[in-house]
Amino acid sequence: MEDTAKIEFAGKTYEIPVIVGTEGEKAIDIQALRQKTGLITYDPGFGNTGSCKSAITFMDGEKGILRYRGIPIEELAEFATFKETSYLLINGKLPNQAELNRFSVLLNDHSLVHEDMQHFYQSFPRASHPMGILSSMVNALRSFYPELQTMEEEINITVTRLLAKVRTMAAMSYKISRGHRVIYPRPDLAYTANFLNMMFDSPVRPYIIDNDVARALEVFWILHADHEQNCSTSAVRVVGSGRVNLYAAISAGISALWGPLHGGANQAVIEMLTQAYEKNIPVRRLVERAKDKKDPFRLMGFGHRVYKAYDPRAKIIKKWCHTLLDKLRISDPLLEIAMELEEIALKDDYFIQKHLYPNVDFYSGIVLRTIGFPTNMFTVLFAIGRLPGWIAQWKESMDDPDWRLSRPRQIYIGSPQYDYIPVEKRD
Ligand code: ACO
Repeated sequence: MEDTAKIEFAGKTYEIPVIVGTEGEKAIDIQALRQKTGLITYDPGFGNTGSCKSAITFMDGEKGILRYRGIPIEELAEFATFKETSYLLINGKLPNQAELNRFSVLLNDHSLVHEDMQHFYQSFPRASHPMGILSSMVNALRSFYPELQTMEEEINITVTRLLAKVRTMAAMSYKISRGHRVIYPRPDLAYTANFLNMMFDSPVRPYIIDNDVARALEVFWILHADHEQNCSTSAVRVVGSGRVNLYAAISAGISALWGPLHGGANQAVIEMLTQAYEKNIPVRRLVERAKDKKDPFRLMGFGHRVYKAYDPRAKIIKKWCHTLLDKLRISDPLLEIAMELEEIALKDDYFIQKHLYPNVDFYSGIVLRTIGFPTNMFTVLFAIGRLPGWIAQWKESMDDPDWRLSRPRQIYIGSPQYDYIPVEKRD
């Protein structure tokens, strides 16, 4: 195996080291490139840039493979709980029974949120998007739970605090936005059931937990738990590289996730399907618009930076979509539109040639709305799911011997130097 690559530039040849990952993926290590050659690399959107070495998640976009710590996503979605998956991502291995019990106790003990935080919630205007609220509240946690003595304590306690409280905070924001009484976490309920109860229980209509509904949400969270160096995870790593506290880094991740090209796509898909349904827009028209270069419209829930095959998460969530609708005997016209859209798009040359397949967001919104979540909570649910991944990536970056402050370079294309002009002499 070659362990160097050669670059020829200005009549000279330079040897560049090549590094190889566990699954055979190769990278040229350009850390010394500028020093040796005067060159930097140019890669808008970092589509061809490895920003770190990571042992957390492996994905192969060409083959549609996703594994957390080596375990295929299909197996985790079939057999694991979200709690186990979170532990796996953060600690690098599945917990044994004693570790799982201890983790459960910690998650329960830290699930309450400081009562004073409710005042903040009350101050947001009613129409505020819950992602903006969640990002602000997670950042505010640092004021309520100041820095701990040791890094070990900081990592262990802050991590469980975040995992436990984010669920409570998300449900609180929903209840308060509706002007309803906040429902507290219950120690007798499992992680996902507890969240559903905080969301939907009411003094006038007790919430009955359906095991299939709870499992569907659990699977949704497992599928979203990590996805290597995506936009929000990179935001967590970049912000964290300045050595801010974990709450601030996660708050940055939540803000990044909010965008419709990233985590906000699950909301955008339902809005697109609803519009098609309500305005009776033929599915072919949506496909034609998506293909039209002069139209900024894109088929939401289609395409992915890394997957150039069917997103393995989309396959799993699509199955859950049917399971849940059959079980609850609901017929959702949006599912009909989604399936027709997928069928037409997958046969269309434009989508075939650009390798555009449904991504996880295409069907997940239908699952979430079947459970009863309002559309503007979808991305918050994604954030709860992605939290263990963000934490695991932040933790890994803290221990990384190659760690450096994130600080890319640029190619300056502005004006050359000119002298300051006093205001009276300017045009
Ligand atoms: N509809 C129509 N055309 C598309 C779509 C789409 N959904 N996605 C990509 N394309 C086209 C682009 O116009 C571009 O065409 P061109 O080469 O002729 O200019 C080509 O496919 C490549 O697209 P890029 O934008 O360069 O691909 P990139 O990797 O930067 O973008 C992204 C990936 C942002 C996900 C894109 O596919 C998209 O906007 N999809 C819709 C939003 C979405 O579903 N986001 C969720 C992603 S998954 C997640 O974050 C959980």
